[in-house]
Amino acid sequence: MAAPNSHRTEDWWRDAVIYQVYPRSFADGDGDGTGDLAGVRARLPHLAELGVDAVWFTPWYVSPLVDGGYDVADYRTIDPAFGTLGEAEKLIAEARELGIRTIVDIVPNHVSDQHAWFRAALEAGPGSAERERFHFRPGRGEHGELPPNDWPSQFSGRTWTRVEDGEWYLHLFTPEQPDLNWAHPEVRREHEDVLRFWFERGVAGVRIDSAALLAKDPALADFVEGVDPHPYIDQDELHDIYRSWRRVADAYGGVFVGEVWLPDAERFARYLRPDELHTAFNFNFLSCPWDAELLRRSIDDTLAEHAPVGAPATWVLCNHDVTRTVTRYGRADTGFDFAKKAFGTPTDLALGTLRARAAALLTLALPGSVYLYQGEELGLPEADIPRERIQDPMHFRSGGVDPGRDGCRVPLPWDGDAPYCGFGSETEPWLPQPEGWAAYAADRQAADPESMLSLYREALRLRRSTAGFGDGPLDWLPAPDGVLAFRRAGGPVCVVNLSPAPVELPAHGAVLLVSGPLDEAGRLPSDTAVWLDA
Ligand code: GLC
Repeated sequence: MAAPNSHRTEDWWRDAVIYQVYPRSFADGDGDGTGDLAGVRARLPHLAELGVDAVWFTPWYVSPLVDGGYDVADYRTIDPAFGTLGEAEKLIAEARELGIRTIVDIVPNHVSDQHAWFRAALEAGPGSAERERFHFRPGRGEHGELPPNDWPSQFSGRTWTRVEDGEWYLHLFTPEQPDLNWAHPEVRREHEDVLRFWFERGVAGVRIDSAALLAKDPALADFVEGVDPHPYIDQDELHDIYRSWRRVADAYGGVFVGEVWLPDAERFARYLRPDELHTAFNFNFLSCPWDAELLRRSIDDTLAEHAPVGAPATWVLCNHDVTRTVTRYGRADTGFDFAKKAFGTPTDLALGTLRARAAALLTLALPGSVYLYQGEELGLPEADIPRERIQDPMHFRSGGVDPGRDGCRVPLPWDGDAPYCGFGSETEPWLPQPEGWAAYAADRQAADPESMLSLYREALRLRRSTAGFGDGPLDWLPAPDGVLAFRRAGGPVCVVNLSPAPVELPAHGAVLLVSGPLDEAGRLPSDTAVWLDA
């Protein structure tokens, strides 16, 4: 077993490697085809050996699972399909003993339509105090038959649903996810209580779902393209909410990571001021095509936007919402764009895997913290889910055009020779595993020094034990076109060749790690990255 992983105890989050667990698909301990906390507890050694500092669990609360758990019916209870609160507490403690901290996912923008508050609101009727916690409105049109405004949905489709008594309620996502009214003091109080509840159970941090969407224009005015501020994205009121959250977190030494998708770097950085969120996801890097110039610009912009507020950058290549990295990099369009997802996109997986290996070394060498999504360390591709098995509402709300996000949520392969690759028992998992999944199984990769898993393990080991990685400055080195080369102050050099031809290694120290073999002349081939000693 590896030694405890955290190499820093204070401000651990400034350069942590954080592993995202999607509990439904990680490991199935009770053999019912759905992943659960028993499965995670049994697989903690995998995470310790990989060498991660923390685990972020996507929502594990009671939920009808209309949106994979992002429709929460009760924020203080673990979904019985996953286990119990007692088990979650054990898991948090056991992980901590292995040096792994826990981050939970809080979904403040909306609740499930099965949440007690929403049920009470439906029952209490128009004009009631219960409805004020949500956005209920009469409709427009002669008989109120038109929605109160024209806001576009975060998923395709409408943002308003009409209830039997004629009122409409707002939902930026599915109708089963009614939006809360963040101008209501009870909504604020309740969420601060929920934060305390989880901090008291030993969690070290909280990921904030849809963090820039909570506050709405009080007039609920129509959306006008190009007119600022947007009626529901990045409203100024949010900062006051997060300042009070920060006071709660500080009492426990807890940290936040916000899910903030904003194109404007300056607006993004406002969430990271010293009395607000500690970190936020950097989706600019995730969306960036495999192109040296664009990546360099994304890295520079990211570092420049974080510097004035003193926050560390975060780097993420994939998560439970986006196309898996090896697939994305194996396509003609290597960037990520929700609007461009389509069935049957031609993919060169061998090329994508080569690039994903190089991207892993690039990402892990950058200043700040890194998020890994379960299965990324196994190099899993995006799976094609047969249409009749798709569960993601994004697919249905697009009228069947968007393949949805299930392809990156397929249950993990652990044991290449076991039924369903050792995900659980002989019960078929909730999403089908594609053919050839066994080749990606963790046990097979552990035995293969050339595997993606071996690369990640070694990279994380070096990142932990070599001075200069993690938080701190980065200096670009001169490099040919299409090549990224930088040095970490007092530490290693990273070179990534995104050009079509091999390049000479710069005259630096010994090779610490390469993402693929050097050529016979000792040059760095195309789509390959190397770490060199300072
Ligand atoms: C976030 C989650 C996504 C979910 C949405 C609504 O974007 O990452 O999975 O569907 O919020 O809660």
